[in-house]
Amino acid sequence: MDDAVQWAVVGTGKISRSVLPDLLLSGDAHVRTVYSRSSDKAESFAAEYGVGQWTSDYDALLADPAVQAVYLATPFAIHHAMTRAALEAGKHVLVEKPIALTAAEVGDLFALARSRGLFLMEAMWMKFNPAFRHLLELLATGRIGEPRNLRAGFGLPFPTDGGSRWDLARSGSTLLDQGIYPVTFAHAVFGEPESVYARGSVRPDGLDLAEHFTLEYSDGRFAQCASSMVDFADPTASVSGRLGWISIPGLFWTSTSLRVHADGWDAMVANPHPVDFPKEGNGYVPMLRAVGQAIREGRTEHPLHTGADTEAVFRTMDAIRAQLAAQRIAVGA
Ligand SMILES: NC(=O)c1ccc[n+]([C@@H]2O[C@H](COP(=O)([O-])OP(=O)(O)OC[C@H]3O[C@@H](n4cnc5c(N)ncnc54)[C@H](OP(=O)(O)O)[C@@H]3O)[C@@H](O)[C@H]2O)c1
Repeated sequence: MDDAVQWAVVGTGKISRSVLPDLLLSGDAHVRTVYSRSSDKAESFAAEYGVGQWTSDYDALLADPAVQAVYLATPFAIHHAMTRAALEAGKHVLVEKPIALTAAEVGDLFALARSRGLFLMEAMWMKFNPAFRHLLELLATGRIGEPRNLRAGFGLPFPTDGGSRWDLARSGSTLLDQGIYPVTFAHAVFGEPESVYARGSVRPDGLDLAEHFTLEYSDGRFAQCASSMVDFADPTASVSGRLGWISIPGLFWTSTSLRVHADGWDAMVANPHPVDFPKEGNGYVPMLRAVGQAIREGRTEHPLHTGADTEAVFRTMDAIRAQLAAQRIAVGA
């Protein structure tokens, strides 16, 4: 396709292996090159996916004028620095979640992207999933009445293999890696909370392993959430209103279905209304298609997950992490 966006895929981990095929499926994308710190790995990764170029030199990749957009899938402690470098080189950037570590870092990146007229987005695919979009439509039309509370969990233990999740210098923090989905979910339904209450288990070096948190809103509305990299915490979600509730089976952030519990006792309890959507590729296609279109239209942000949305989510996560840090000091004292 003539106006296909020319992408570079950076990082050869598990998530790049899920997203790269979906990028090709999204219909308006060409993967021009791939990057790994090891040139052997870059070469074999490129060969596996039929990509014509590879490099182990990030600066050289950013200097390639044919690369228009970078998909960044490296450990998240280095997202801010790698994204900044890509924006300074004039590239549009789609960054894996979490896009950075703090709200201040997020604000810095979006300010830079706006000042350069470049597209920037955190790859929060959940917000583009058809089932999730439909949930928000149902809430807006009042199907379950005014939404009053929600519940969302992401507790799936990671293998104790010494991988990047166990290292603060790479991708350590269950909140930033997993809890970001419940927090983003709550923001999408209720917006930024008025107050936050968080408790959890934090390693002596500060890496948060498991937590539960309540986000509180005006008029008694609330979101109860949990995340954990060491225990299971039911990875489903639900939103309840004055006339019923909607449940999203696990894994809620990638679910293709909803159950609407409304319209009388039988439909509410025994026979909830099912809503099902097909899954495209590995589930990233709707987001990647939307991002490609936004880049071709010359947008700097996507309206479904803006810089302001992202910064607000990180303000909430900053508040949760501050409470967990204070708790660690108290426990250690
Ligand atoms: N959206 C989703 O569904 C989803 C799922 C899983 C993960 N993620 C997110 O995606 C990101 C990466 O996750 P992952 O599981 O793929 O992580 P990972 O395996 O720890 O790291 C990804 C790749 O980054 C490269 N890398 C490692 N250290 C680096 C460094 N210091 N500098 C530059 N590159 C480095 C490595 O590739 P090379 O060895 O080839 O350089 C590695 O394979 C994280 O932010 C994570 O939260 C998203």
